[in-house]
Amino acid sequence: MTTLHVLAVASEAYPLVKTGGLADVVGALPAALAAHDVQVRTLLPGYPAVLAAIGAAPVVHAYADCFGGAASLRFARVGDLDLAVLDAPHLYARGGGPYADANGRAFGDNALRFAALARAAADLGRGVVGPAAPDIVHAHDWQAALAPAYLHYDGGVRPGTVMTVHNLAFQGRFPGVTLDRLHLPRQAWAIDGVEYHGAIGYLKAGLALADRITTVSPTYAAEIRTPEGGMGLDGLLRHRAQDVRGILNGIDDAVWNPATDPRIPSRFRATQRAGRARNRVALRARMGLAPRVDAPLFGVVSRFSWQKGLDLVLEALPALLRGGGQLAILGSGEAPLEAAFAAAAHAHAGEVAVHLGYDEDLAHLMQAGADAILVPSRFEPCGLTQLCALRYGALPVVARVGGLADTVIDANHAALAAGVATGFQFAPVTLAEFTRTLDRVLALWADRPRWRRMQARAMASDVGWQHAAASYAGLYRELVRR
Ligand code: ADP
Ligand code: GLC
Repeated sequence: MTTLHVLAVASEAYPLVKTGGLADVVGALPAALAAHDVQVRTLLPGYPAVLAAIGAAPVVHAYADCFGGAASLRFARVGDLDLAVLDAPHLYARGGGPYADANGRAFGDNALRFAALARAAADLGRGVVGPAAPDIVHAHDWQAALAPAYLHYDGGVRPGTVMTVHNLAFQGRFPGVTLDRLHLPRQAWAIDGVEYHGAIGYLKAGLALADRITTVSPTYAAEIRTPEGGMGLDGLLRHRAQDVRGILNGIDDAVWNPATDPRIPSRFRATQRAGRARNRVALRARMGLAPRVDAPLFGVVSRFSWQKGLDLVLEALPALLRGGGQLAILGSGEAPLEAAFAAAAHAHAGEVAVHLGYDEDLAHLMQAGADAILVPSRFEPCGLTQLCALRYGALPVVARVGGLADTVIDANHAALAAGVATGFQFAPVTLAEFTRTLDRVLALWADRPRWRRMQARAMASDVGWQHAAASYAGLYRELVRR
């Protein structure tokens, strides 16, 4: 097998910059692909945190004018990642997050910031800047989605292109007038190009023009081709059905391994779970929950957004508390949800506890100490928290949508009898079904030997990257144009 060279393009990569699961995937996939003789270089925007991590990395190309200012491409290796960084101070050297300022207001020039990223990807992809051209350019989400478009309209020899959708809700739509500033030809303004209902659709362009489309679970791959799940792009996705694949995410075993995790007070494994009980005590203490050792401890680790269905957790709280449960929540996002969870913690001090914010150590402790993790998402392309939960023996309680449906085996009678259940699923995503499922969780909790058997099975679930890496490697090899 010859070594395949891939340029991955994304706006986040763990551990350098992360707002969600996209970063986890982009950060972990390259190491898993190395086993398949695939070498990945990952192009990232030169955010301050990224520049700090690469230090004085060498410049491989200088742009005199990159969408309004001078810029350079710099190559570096950080941990397992070979990086290409677009160092463009006029676009990325600023405070706040990757997409918005410190007050959460989206940057006004996001169209240019991510067009520049895609333009650099296309230049590297064609080998007109930097070293020899890669075989494949792999774009992740809307921030990278113009890369297949630039490669398409540049003409001439180009690498194969893959567009991966991590979340169809984020599409990168900008006013049509932006087109003049993107350095795309007039013919790109077309129904089979970047035009999208009178505006410019970055993700739409990637979906229309990449050689292949992937998304992060088989069920989500089917859902996005329906009007309910397609968010306006289902027609295009049905049209391209032959080229759409669902490849299930994994989690990074070096980051999420209870037997070696340096972030948790006590390490443990499926066959030796005494450490887990100690983490449970530590989690209660850390969150200020009453030390009721027999109470089932439910956890949430999540962005607070409509997608995640956390309003259902609030609505089901009385039932959860009546059933004797406790609840620990870690997350941040929409202000009304933050306020509502803070109020619930205040009203039920000692039984409900909330940590508002982003805290990786606490996220690990939640997985290592909670008895069950709640993921009642309205839609979920893959979801990583339920995979972490399986690995750490916190039984996932999930909505039967997207990747949640593909990764958790519901504890129904048949699955329990066969000894294969790993968690709980509910559908449809309503308060009635969620509450009914919490009752099932509480009933199983009352049968502790059975609970522990299920916990051991959950921990034995295959949640690594091996299968996905083989699938991506196979897909790349189909697209090699040499
Ligand atoms: P999404 O990307 O839609 O937010 P995923 O389940 O794919 O959902 O990924 C979420 C990732 O972010 C996981 O790695 C999870 O542990 C992490 N995470 C979410 N919220 C927090 C938080 N408040 N603190 C620390 N980590 C968090
Ligand atoms: C998105 C999705 C999430 C998925 C992640 C990584 O953030 O919301 O379901 O796990 O991308 O693919």
